[in-house]
Amino acid sequence: MGLPSVSLSMSWLVHNLHIHLVLLCCLSILNSGFTATTSSSWLMGNKSDRLSLLATKAKIVEDPLHVLSSWNDSIHFCQWQGVTCGHRQQRVTAMDLQSRELVGSISPHLGNLSFLRELLLQNNSFGNEIPPEIGRLSRLQILQLNNNSIGGRITVNISRCANHIFLNVSENGLVGEVPVELGSLSKLVIVKIHKNNLTGSISPFANLSSLRGLSLCYNHFHGSIPDGFGRLKNLQRLALGANNLFGTIPPSLFNHSSRIMIDVIMNQIQGSLPWTWASLFPVLKNFNIGINHFTGSIPVSISNASKLLRLEMVQNEFTGKVPNLAGLQKLNWLILTDNQLGSEEAEDLNFISSLINATNLQFLGVNINYFGCKLPESIGNLSSNLQVLYLDNNQIFGSIPTGIVNLVGLQSLDMQFNQLTGSIPSGIGKLQNLHELKLGYNSLSGNIPSSLRNLSLLSKLFLGVNKFHGSIPSSLGNCSNLQMLLLSQNNLTGAIPKQVVSISSLSISLDLSQNQLSGFLPTEVANLINLGYLDVSYNLLSGEIPSTLGSCTRLETLHLGNNFFNETIPSSLSFLRGLVELGLASNNLSGEIPMYLESFTLLQNWNLSFNNFEGVVPIQGVFSNASAISVVGNSKLCGGVAELKLPKCNLKVDEKRRSNSVLTLALSIPFGFVGLALVGCVLYLCWFRKRRKDTPSDSSKNLLLRVSYQTLVKATDGFSSFNLIGVGSFGSVYRGVIDGRIFTVKVINLLRHGASKSFVFECEALRNIRHRNLVKVLTACSTIDYQGHDFKALVYEFMVNGSLEEWLHPNCNEDLSNEEFKKLNFLQRLNIIIDVACAVNYLHNQGQTPIVHCDLKPSNILLCGISSPHVRGDPPCAA
Ligand SMILES: *[C@@H]1O[C@H](CO)[C@@H](O)[C@H](O)[C@H]1NC(C)=O
Ligand SMILES: *[C@@H]1O[C@H](CO)[C@@H](O)[C@H](O)[C@H]1NC(C)=O
Ligand SMILES: *[C@@H]1O[C@H](CO)[C@@H](O)[C@H](O)[C@H]1NC(C)=O
Ligand SMILES: *[C@@H]1O[C@H](CO)[C@@H](O)[C@H](O)[C@H]1NC(C)=O
Ligand SMILES: *[C@@H]1O[C@H](CO)[C@@H](O)[C@H](O)[C@H]1NC(C)=O
Ligand SMILES: *[C@@H]1O[C@H](CO)[C@@H](O)[C@H](O)[C@H]1NC(C)=O
Ligand SMILES: *[C@@H]1O[C@H](CO)[C@@H](O)[C@H](O)[C@H]1NC(C)=O
Ligand SMILES: *[C@@H]1O[C@H](CO)[C@@H](O)[C@H](O)[C@H]1NC(C)=O
Ligand SMILES: *[C@@H]1O[C@H](CO)[C@@H](O)[C@H](O)[C@H]1NC(C)=O
Ligand SMILES: *[C@@H]1O[C@H](CO)[C@@H](O)[C@H](O)[C@H]1NC(C)=O
Repeated sequence: MGLPSVSLSMSWLVHNLHIHLVLLCCLSILNSGFTATTSSSWLMGNKSDRLSLLATKAKIVEDPLHVLSSWNDSIHFCQWQGVTCGHRQQRVTAMDLQSRELVGSISPHLGNLSFLRELLLQNNSFGNEIPPEIGRLSRLQILQLNNNSIGGRITVNISRCANHIFLNVSENGLVGEVPVELGSLSKLVIVKIHKNNLTGSISPFANLSSLRGLSLCYNHFHGSIPDGFGRLKNLQRLALGANNLFGTIPPSLFNHSSRIMIDVIMNQIQGSLPWTWASLFPVLKNFNIGINHFTGSIPVSISNASKLLRLEMVQNEFTGKVPNLAGLQKLNWLILTDNQLGSEEAEDLNFISSLINATNLQFLGVNINYFGCKLPESIGNLSSNLQVLYLDNNQIFGSIPTGIVNLVGLQSLDMQFNQLTGSIPSGIGKLQNLHELKLGYNSLSGNIPSSLRNLSLLSKLFLGVNKFHGSIPSSLGNCSNLQMLLLSQNNLTGAIPKQVVSISSLSISLDLSQNQLSGFLPTEVANLINLGYLDVSYNLLSGEIPSTLGSCTRLETLHLGNNFFNETIPSSLSFLRGLVELGLASNNLSGEIPMYLESFTLLQNWNLSFNNFEGVVPIQGVFSNASAISVVGNSKLCGGVAELKLPKCNLKVDEKRRSNSVLTLALSIPFGFVGLALVGCVLYLCWFRKRRKDTPSDSSKNLLLRVSYQTLVKATDGFSSFNLIGVGSFGSVYRGVIDGRIFTVKVINLLRHGASKSFVFECEALRNIRHRNLVKVLTACSTIDYQGHDFKALVYEFMVNGSLEEWLHPNCNEDLSNEEFKKLNFLQRLNIIIDVACAVNYLHNQGQTPIVHCDLKPSNILLCGISSPHVRGDPPCAA
């Protein structure tokens, strides 16, 4: 219903923005092209360099690409892979082993390569620490160790590499503070230290006067941004995001027209934008101050930042009017999400009209603010490249401008939580790139437009909590990528179209609750095999709960309450073992509470109040916790845990109930394979004894018959509850008609732990019997593919005469004449005893592995051969 969608929308926003914004922060730092030069010479080189290289090799423990196999005595070390020497002295000047899948540590002996200028080890799995000996590389200019697993602190000795220009140690596990001495590396141009666990102040960097790019994001730096940053005249790109920095931005930082990118997202920075920031406008491309505590208004001067590509101010405390942005014609991203912008005045959103010349605009987020006006008609003139438009959580009123359907690039359109009225523009079907259309929580009315059928990429459609009326268009079934469909709390009428419950892509939720929907819940609901959340509560639905619901095995939440569903809970619901919440309250459901629910280990909440359930409330599983279930308003229930305060069950009644249930679940078979094997065996005996008299006429025709899923569906009338004979712990047994003959179809629920194994055993047992030409009952034993799920089914001849239990303890409710027929005479009883003894003997002694039947009782002994009850005295299975 309502709430999940709110939290989803919010968490989506937060997630996407965070990830997107912060990644940008780390990736867009300038990476100037420093490349190693190669040289070759066959002269003898310096012995010490060779030893250092070999010592380096010795520290590398894994080299899956065999890069270092060339580091051998047969060639000069200047020819070794990844090694570059200077022309004159034959000394190592560069080592490039990047992206070679190397595992090991950095040898301290590297410090002896005194001519080394470039050391490129990035993108491997070097661990351990940066050796202090690296400080002896006085010629070192480029050091790239990024994307390894290097830990420890940044060694102070690194500050002795006075020629250092490029330092990249990002994406490692560095800890501790950055040594103050680093500030002496006055030649450093690019420093990338992002994605480590560094702490302390960032002030050492404030002295690096040559700095052009500095990326420190994703660390634990704290303190304020030092004034010294303002003196870094050449600094073009500054990324400080995702740290714990606080205080204000020093105005001097903005005082240079060299700044291309400033990114301080996700810190605790406060204050307003200083007037100096106008100096940035000639070059500024990227300005990201999201998720801080900035206040004040957005300066009007911003329109002069003509190079601006991204302006991101998400989650701050900006107030007032958004100025005209017509000057920002290069803009790609504008995110003002989650501020206090807007004055609830008519011109609040005029800035949107000022963006129509920003032809590259892709992302426009003005959601979660106080904009309170109509949407400008000109919104349809925004760039057709616009992919994301967030207007949700404002006080926007009036209707949705029809021009919005011109934004054909839109992938995500969110206008939830406003006061929009009128109907959805019928041309909405033109937005064929839409993945998400969220219009919930408004006052939209009219019909749900059938042109939504054209949105074949749509995965989320939120129209809940509006005033839509009319019926749900069946053409929504064309939206074959839908994962979430929320239509709750409208005024929708008519039946639920079967096409809508056939969208098998629906995986997250289908919420049709709180409407005026009537008719049956279509049996096609069986197609929702991926669905986790189904809510049709508070409608006018009637008839049975379709047994096909048992196919929706991924369901965790099922709300059917407050409708007019009648009859019993279909036994196929026993397949829904993942259920956490089951709401059936306020219907006309009757019958007994299914015992299998006791074994639903995940079930936490079951509401069955105000129905006509009767009989015993179980006490195990979910039933053991009185607060997890609600049973009020079912006057015929008894038992249960004491807290439910239900009447005790009368034992007599209980007994009767038991025999009733034997009747209703006439052939309830426990799903141990032994149960079936025994059945098979008794049947063998039936058949065998019979054969002594009959000619073995049609038995040979009954060999293995392969049945398809469709055959089974047809045979069992769509696994209808009418044909359900019984439910056991591993599956359900149905009666089915194939080619005019009655068969028993046992469907194994493979989700049940152990079921698959049990099935294999059972098949094996039956196959053995068949193989020995003993039994004719087995007709199929196959795995059937049911919409990508493995279902297993056994099909064998139906036991016309039910179980021995019924014959021994006939149901008292049946009328006398019938009861009379169900009496066994002494001879019949003796025959049965002999047969059972034979069967047990077979299980114990004749099978390949001795089998012990653990549940031998009359209800597990199925009878064939009593041709029909009215032929009195006809002994079972005997001539
Ligand atoms: C090799 O390099 C080491 C260290 O730089 C130096 O001491 C030694 O004299 C050099 N030897 C030759 C033959 O150049
Ligand atoms: C590197 O130099 C140090 C100190 O001069 C020396 O102890 C070590 O043996 C040298 N290593 C190699 C591999 O030459
Ligand atoms: C030494 O390296 C060369 C060049 O890669 C290679 O051809 C040769 O097989 C290597 N020798 C040994 C013993 O690995
Ligand atoms: C990192 O190395 C992997 C292989 O180990 C390679 O596929 C990937 O492209 C490399 N990434 C960079 C940025 O070099
Ligand atoms: C980091 O290196 C791993 C291989 O070790 C590679 O798969 C991954 O893509 C690299 N990451 C980056 C950002 O280059
Ligand atoms: C690190 O630098 C200090 C001086 O700053 C020096 O005494 C020490 O020897 C250096 N350590 C190494 C391993 O080079
Ligand atoms: C870095 O910090 C994070 C969070 O504080 C922690 O989960 C992670 O284990 C740390 N990594 C290292 C290498 O210390
Ligand atoms: C858009 O550009 C056109 C042509 O350059 C100009 O006439 C119009 O005023 C501009 N509109 C806005 C809102 O910037
Ligand atoms: C729903 O529709 C009925 C009749 O069509 C109407 O009486 C009722 O006011 C509507 N409810 C809402 C909330 O629009
Ligand atoms: C159940 O509801 C359906 C449809 O309303 C009705 O036809 C049927 O008779 C009802 N069954 C019972 C037992 O009330």
